[in-house]
Amino acid sequence: MRVLVAGAPGAGKGTQAALLAYELDVPHIASGDLVRESIASGTPAGVAVRDAAARGDLVPDDVIVDILRPTLLAAASRGGYVLDGFPRTLKQAEAMDELLGTSGLSIELVVHLHVPEATLTQRLVARGREDDGAAVIDHRLAVYRSQTVPMLDWFARFQKLVLIDGTGTVDAVSAAIIRDMQEWLLRRRLAS
Ligand code: AP5
Ligand code: MG
Repeated sequence: MRVLVAGAPGAGKGTQAALLAYELDVPHIASGDLVRESIASGTPAGVAVRDAAARGDLVPDDVIVDILRPTLLAAASRGGYVLDGFPRTLKQAEAMDELLGTSGLSIELVVHLHVPEATLTQRLVARGREDDGAAVIDHRLAVYRSQTVPMLDWFARFQKLVLIDGTGTVDAVSAAIIRDMQEWLLRRRLAS
């Protein structure tokens, strides 16, 4: 299965993508983790994206695609993945299709975790990652609204998105994802 877990900062992408990848027995690919690894390792890509990540801006589309490419191609060739945080713009979704399109290994389903902004902010402030200061959180939320929501609308238009209430406990959200994914798979089978 090839899934993207999407949602605003703090929606639980990392938490839920890890559980889902375990359940589906496929790799969990977290774009934010790869960005932080490249910054920590001091590679040229890492140096180029450090300031954008610290401000809460997206790193440029071509750079994030370069960072993700090897991991993504390796996972896709083995048959599946749970992506967490990539793609998050329409341009990135197109670039990913170009990368994988001819092999038929592009995203089958987007799991969109929805959580109200007040709850997101509470979660992130409590976590306290380097980019979890109040002003940077506000900026990350604004970037999500302007750049990622249009991409989610696009997937929804092709019936490739399930919307999940991300406000319950971790276990409740995880169970809702599995249940709604199974329903979606059944609908897809009946339609084909
Ligand atoms: P990234 O690391 O992906 O950050 P983000 O999208 O802001 O999301 P977070 O990782 O903060 O939250 P999450 O949704 O994973 O939630 P989590 O499970 O951790 O990206 C960081 C930066 O990298 C970006 O700003 C950008 O600069 C760059 N970048 C990454 N991808 C990019 C791309 N594609 N293009 C361009 N730039 C990119 O949960 C959050 C907290 O809530 C945790 O403490 C968790 O324990 C808690 N929690 C989780 N679930 C629950 C629950 N159900 N109830 C209560 N608490 C919960
Ligand atoms: Mg995350």
